[in-house]
Amino acid sequence: MRIRDPRIVAKLAEIHVELRQGTSLADLTSLGIGGTTDLLRIKKHENLPDLLNLLDANHVPHKFLGGGSNLLVGDGELPWVVLQLVRPEPDVVLDGNFAHVDAAADLGRMITFCAKNDLGGMEGLIGVPGTVGGALRMNAGAYGMQIGSYVREVKLYRAASRQIEILRGEQISFEYRHTSFAPDDMMLAVILELPSKPFKEILQGIRICNEKRRSSQPLGQKSAGCIFKNPPGASAGRMIDELGLKGLSVGDARVSDRHANFFVNAGHASANDMLNLIADVRERVQKTYGVSLENEVVVWNA
Ligand code: EPU
Repeated sequence: MRIRDPRIVAKLAEIHVELRQGTSLADLTSLGIGGTTDLLRIKKHENLPDLLNLLDANHVPHKFLGGGSNLLVGDGELPWVVLQLVRPEPDVVLDGNFAHVDAAADLGRMITFCAKNDLGGMEGLIGVPGTVGGALRMNAGAYGMQIGSYVREVKLYRAASRQIEILRGEQISFEYRHTSFAPDDMMLAVILELPSKPFKEILQGIRICNEKRRSSQPLGQKSAGCIFKNPPGASAGRMIDELGLKGLSVGDARVSDRHANFFVNAGHASANDMLNLIADVRERVQKTYGVSLENEVVVWNA
């Protein structure tokens, strides 16, 4: 979708929103898949209500993009514009055991920065790609840890009230890869309370998790992490592996040889290739195990 109306373009500049016309989302997602649309980069949180009122008044549909690391975007010209926060500098400010973090901060860098200041707890999440905002929305987790456990306060744009609000940790429910945020709420900043730990100890935890991840996940390849959520008490990766589906392909979309719940873009996979592969694997698992796997990856299909 393209914003061509000069009045909208002028208003965007006025509210500190940078318009990047005709951006390829394949370049902004870890899968390297996705069509083209206008990208709106938000420099100041406080301008969000004005921006969303402007878009609504002009019937411009939108979606919020974080780090693009858990996302499968449709092909071709996309029927909505994409909003993204510009990362401020600094994006993490420490105050005792509290880390004040902008949603646009990179999750891994934030964890490393906190570690260097003797704040730990999130070692397991170190290899999870993406922004802090994205991790928060999905309640990213790994190796027995989840970001939700450390959240004390979240600043967000609430679609329901059309305002920026602050929620305390207890007002948010964090479940397995799921939170109580509405789909069109936008994460802006978070306060995390992290336990004090010596850097050396945190580093050891980080090394162990990195090693586990390296040995079991296809890190050098284009992927969106795990495609399916694990069903209660079972492992999607193990089931797909047991069915002998590693290497199964549709076009360049391929079930990883290393971890069967990672589907990789081995070249120039289209969104349709990936969606067809997902549907095929889901059907085979359903047939054998009677389990309907739920997507873990977020799909923005046109
Ligand atoms: N397994 C296989 N074959 C495979 C993959 C896994 O037999 O191809 C077996 C493993 O041997 C193990 C079990 O399945 O016994 C579980 O595998 P793993 O430890 O790799 O964990 P997972 O349940 O597949 C989850 C998260 C990952 C997270 C890891 C580590 C989900 C859907 N996935 O994977 O998160 O990194 O645990 O904590 O919850 C993601 O969210 O995108 C993601 C990758």
